Amino acid sequence: MKAIKKICCIGAGYVGGPTMSVIADRCPHITINVVDTNKLRINQWNDPDLEKLPVYEPGLKEIIQRCRNKNLFFSVNVQKHIEEADMIFISVNTPTKTKGIGAGKASDLKWIEASARQIGKYARGETIVVEKSTLPVKTAETIKEILFSSLKSGPEKNRKLNKFCILSNPEFLAEGTAIDDLENPDRVLIGGEDEKAIEALKAIYLNWVKGNKIITTDLWSSELSKLIANAFLAQRVSSINSISALCEATQANVNEVANAIGMDKRIGKFFLNAGPGFGGSCFKKDILNLVYICNHYGLKEVANYWEKVLEINDWQKKRLTKLVVEKMFGNISGKTITVLGFAFKSNTNDTRESPAITICKDLLEEGCFLSIFDPKVRLNQIISDLDINPITIDSNGNNLGGWQYANSIDDAVKGSDAIIILSDWREFYNLDYKTIISKMRKPCWIFDTRNVVDINAAKKSGFNVWSLGRSNL
Ligand code: UDX
Ligand code: ADP
Repeated sequence: MKAIKKICCIGAGYVGGPTMSVIADRCPHITINVVDTNKLRINQWNDPDLEKLPVYEPGLKEIIQRCRNKNLFFSVNVQKHIEEADMIFISVNTPTKTKGIGAGKASDLKWIEASARQIGKYARGETIVVEKSTLPVKTAETIKEILFSSLKSGPEKNRKLNKFCILSNPEFLAEGTAIDDLENPDRVLIGGEDEKAIEALKAIYLNWVKGNKIITTDLWSSELSKLIANAFLAQRVSSINSISALCEATQANVNEVANAIGMDKRIGKFFLNAGPGFGGSCFKKDILNLVYICNHYGLKEVANYWEKVLEINDWQKKRLTKLVVEKMFGNISGKTITVLGFAFKSNTNDTRESPAITICKDLLEEGCFLSIFDPKVRLNQIISDLDINPITIDSNGNNLGGWQYANSIDDAVKGSDAIIILSDWREFYNLDYKTIISKMRKPCWIFDTRNVVDINAAKKSGFNVWSLGRSNL
């Protein structure tokens, strides 16, 4: 297998963009073309004003500045860059199917299939195809079939010259820390059958990752490991979230419980923060995939076991709205609640599966008015997620509820009856409670679902405080 000089990445999203940026930064000898059919997205990646990048990740802007138009390019010319590539990464979206067989459970593979067909049509010579997107187990089989059938049915010269090797190289980056995760990975996993292809991909990572962190497996074990890693992580969050409710009922403190159990090396201290429920594009989708394949293989008990992780997650989101209503004299109709944080976690502008979407919709259903602030999520994204236009006024000028987008915390809280903190952005730690409360309508509540509030300071300023997993306030 020849040395890799040109990479093409199909899909310029949250995975493709940051991953290719780090490879470009660490491998100046490799030219990387990131292609996408979405012209707007490519224009945003190419915008000279780096503030407009489509993905927000700490450290990403600096890498783009260093590498863009040197050895890192963003383009809509899918055909050209597939033709020229020695290695092609598939980093397209694989959301859960919304209709047809497996709707609500299986992943929609139409974008993967389209990518494989494009590769089959345009690739030339020996090409290594790397699955990067989170995929259900055995997707590599589908990609293989499409690529090999393209060889059988294509022109004679392609049959002689073209060769494909398929590798699975799942992404373990977490949004918000993607650059650090890519630069200092816990491990890099490569699954495949062709030794030379595995070595070629390994050689790329060896530019900055130690050899003992790069593990190789067969294709299916690699694909399955990605699903199971996410299922285990999600299970931890659901476990601690379920205990947050028990702590509230028994007057214990979930942070102290998490700290005490986390000091046991066998349990470990990470990923034990109780919160409003996990979000993000992977956890729910991957567990649904796991449940789907378990059912497919007749493993009903295993499927039911993992499904509970999702049930607790939904329950956690729902119980928060009930609690807010209950604390605010059983009624929030006509009241204003400030929502701090709309992204599914801090340090990202991604809102996919964000608990804020469900919680905001449930609060709006109760008739309150929401004032929403997030440091990185844009207005149009919230309109599309909530599917409700901001502020509804009837013909008599009465406010029928709705929501508004605020540009700062100060703007958001004006005239509010309560604040609910839904993501753990740095700026929500140690708020200026005194100034904030002076702008609100009394009595004022602060509902903290991320344990970021300085309870004593907030109470001293006059707030009623509710903090997740603690009731003895
Ligand atoms: C996850 C995996 O971590 C990553 O390895 C994989 O490649 C993709 O899926 P991501 O979804 O980007 O990454 O973020 P992550 O940090 O895992 O958080 C997921 C959700 O769990 C967030 O909503 C977060 O707020 C929540 N969470 C996480 C908690 O509520 N408590 C915790 O202790 C940790
Ligand atoms: P992820 O979080 O997995 O990166 P995103 O939705 O952020 O998912 O990004 C996936 C990108 O893949 C999108 O920008 C989408 O336009 C692009 N895409 C999907 N199918 C194709 C295709 N066949 N060719 C090129 N780009 C594609």
